[in-house]
Amino acid sequence: MKKEYKKLAPENRLLLGPGPVEVAPRVLNVMSNPLYGHLDSKFLEITNETMELLRYTFQTTNQLTIPMSGTGSAGMETVMVNLLEEGDRAIICVNGVFGQRLRDMADRCGAEVISVEAPWGKTIDPEDVKKAFKNASGKVKLVGIVHAETSTGVKQPLEEISKIAKENGALLVVDAVTSLGGVDLKIDDWGIDACYSGTQKALSCPPGLSPVTMGEEALKVLSNRKTKVQSWYLDLSMIKNYWGKERVYHHTAPINMIYALREALLIIYEEGLEERFKRHQLNSDAFVSGIEAMGLSMAVKDKEYRLPTLNTVSIPEGVNDITARTYLLDKYGIEIGGGLGDFKGKVWRIGLMGESSKRNNVILLLNALGDALMQQGHRVDFGAATEAALKVYNG
Ligand SMILES: Cc1ncc(COP(=O)(O)O)c(C=O)c1O
Repeated sequence: MKKEYKKLAPENRLLLGPGPVEVAPRVLNVMSNPLYGHLDSKFLEITNETMELLRYTFQTTNQLTIPMSGTGSAGMETVMVNLLEEGDRAIICVNGVFGQRLRDMADRCGAEVISVEAPWGKTIDPEDVKKAFKNASGKVKLVGIVHAETSTGVKQPLEEISKIAKENGALLVVDAVTSLGGVDLKIDDWGIDACYSGTQKALSCPPGLSPVTMGEEALKVLSNRKTKVQSWYLDLSMIKNYWGKERVYHHTAPINMIYALREALLIIYEEGLEERFKRHQLNSDAFVSGIEAMGLSMAVKDKEYRLPTLNTVSIPEGVNDITARTYLLDKYGIEIGGGLGDFKGKVWRIGLMGESSKRNNVILLLNALGDALMQQGHRVDFGAATEAALKVYNG
């Protein structure tokens, strides 16, 4: 007897976690279009438009601005393996899980890694980066830092650190996985030499691609390497020839994911970056007001450094994390994220990104969360929470 498989029928979920998040129907629809071959001139035109729209979103004129095949970690690895060689020195800023991952990758590249750390929930202090340069025993090739630390909800200011890196002749590498398309990020104006993101966060696209951009200085480093890039699959010196004028085959482009990314970027272009950033900030402000009116608190204490895309709420004493999240999923179909690393069991991670960043979602989530808390005997004032959020919306 052959095993019978049921027709695939995913249940409806409202994705309000750290990603993936909601995807617009028009993005899902374009994925079902017929395939082109990856060297068909009609498809190459689509890739050109995708690069154009990525440059708009990254706020850059960098020629090498492309979607790498793979999720955000592939983008992280692309930047690290292309820029670092055995024996290079790298300053890596660590204030959460993704800074740790970046450090691990630099280490795997054979670099001498100098860590600059900050407590979870806090930003990296530029003075500490300055000190790290001073104490380094030789030339530092790059500084790696996370713009939007998804494990803590911290938004890292970058301009000052960029200046310090430049003064010391080092490249600035930025992780923008949870900021691109939701939080202002100016690659050219802020002097960022290399940056990567992921499609499943504020770009509101399914997971599977990792947009990467590299400026002239980073490309010089790439072309002056003494050794081959350790990874064949992520070697930009070859991949750039598929995305550049020559259009040389390297690996098969993920055709339908590129359709999806083009459509998701088009939505961003139509909305406009400024409007989009404002929308993300407004929905986050309303959510935070509601949370505080409920008597809960945010894990990032300093308002200025809170990410609007990823909101970390401290779990009140006596409330069980998993019971509450399971309740939200069972009763409301809502997914939120739990804490990672030092924040495991201590925070909820609420993603209000892209299509998920909506007034309806904020009001629904505040009430659903209030219900989940009440189920565990933690009474909160739903009315006050809704009213506080509405006050933000209605000015
Ligand atoms: C800041 C940051 N960097 C890197 C990654 C890795 O991305 P992925 O899980 O898509 O490989 C994530 C994923 O959540 C992230 O939030």
